[in-house]
Amino acid sequence: MSGQPAVLVTGGAGYIGAHACKALAEAGFSPVCYDSLETGHREFVRWGTFVHGDIRDQAKVRETLRQHQIVAVMHFAAFSLVGESVADPQKYYQNNLAGTLTLLAAMREAGCNRLVVSSTGAVYGEVPSGLVSEARECKPINPYGASKWMVERLLADYRSAYDLTAFCLRYFNACGADESGSIGERRKSETHLIPRAMMALQGHLADFAIFGDDYPTPDGTAIRDYIHVTDLADAHVSALRLLLKGHKGGSFNLGTGSGFSVRQVLAAIAAETGREVPRTIMPRRPGDPAELVADPSRARRTLDFLPARSDLRTIVRSAWAWHQKAHPRIS
Ligand SMILES: NC(=O)c1ccc[n+]([C@@H]2O[C@H](COP(=O)([O-])OP(=O)(O)OC[C@H]3O[C@@H](n4cnc5c(N)ncnc54)[C@H](O)[C@@H]3O)[C@@H](O)[C@H]2O)c1
Repeated sequence: MSGQPAVLVTGGAGYIGAHACKALAEAGFSPVCYDSLETGHREFVRWGTFVHGDIRDQAKVRETLRQHQIVAVMHFAAFSLVGESVADPQKYYQNNLAGTLTLLAAMREAGCNRLVVSSTGAVYGEVPSGLVSEARECKPINPYGASKWMVERLLADYRSAYDLTAFCLRYFNACGADESGSIGERRKSETHLIPRAMMALQGHLADFAIFGDDYPTPDGTAIRDYIHVTDLADAHVSALRLLLKGHKGGSFNLGTGSGFSVRQVLAAIAAETGREVPRTIMPRRPGDPAELVADPSRARRTLDFLPARSDLRTIVRSAWAWHQKAHPRIS
């Protein structure tokens, strides 16, 4: 035991969870990473202790909470591929929904009542152009988004019925990498724009597709809100500090309030790397809105959320530094 308050980080060996472990350690907490390593990486666990386990193992979670005298849980463990969730919804509801229920049961048994949960902009479903605020009704259109929305719904009931306090943080497009270059985005199956574009530049992907260039946007490609992973990690620490002061939590968007089109992101990558990403144009994917940009004002007010690293240049620079190290060029 380090003497610093211990925080359980489920999914702490994954992309965002690893950055949260680093932010926690820097803020004076002792992270305990709890991960099945199904999509995570043991070498990402560089801050704090590692426990190899599944969140669906209630006894193991409960014992870990007790053994490490955990004061709060940050819950990142989930599956998050939209297409896979459509093909295999059971996998998503079992892990993201049933897994969270098991985690909550273990927390109740261990007397731990503070939680910060990963949610997503995908809870909103199809949205018209303009900033999306938390006041908008959530109507997810795929099992992944639905599993996250169900977790938010059940947490509202747990908050009222039990002594639980919980923040649900709805990330928009998480991207970038820690400045140390030791952790970043690495998945067996990569679907995100920036890593795919960089992997195409490095020769790891035969093709890079832009899905739709006929949207009603200035350059015809879809607009998204990109948020640096270190800014996300810092927001989790702010939420944790509020919980420790007695805040009840709630749902908050984590985005910048500014959108960039696919072509603008590719231009930023070309400016950073000196090379154009080879690309093909494919039809729009069903359910992809023209624009998805967060209204971050609620998080700004409550969490003091002022993303410092989420300008496109810093995002692309940090991601490229990570990719060059993690996936050396093969072409
Ligand atoms: N990456 C994004 O842009 C984004 C956007 C919105 C929300 N999110 C959410 O953020 C969270 C983290 O996403 P990420 O991009 O870091 O994904 P990731 O796959 O890199 O990390 C998830 C981690 O959870 C672990 N895990 C999964 N199921 C588990 C289980 N049953 N028990 C224990 N560990 C388990 C995995 O091994 C992995 O280390 C997820 O909940 C995801 O839905 C991500």
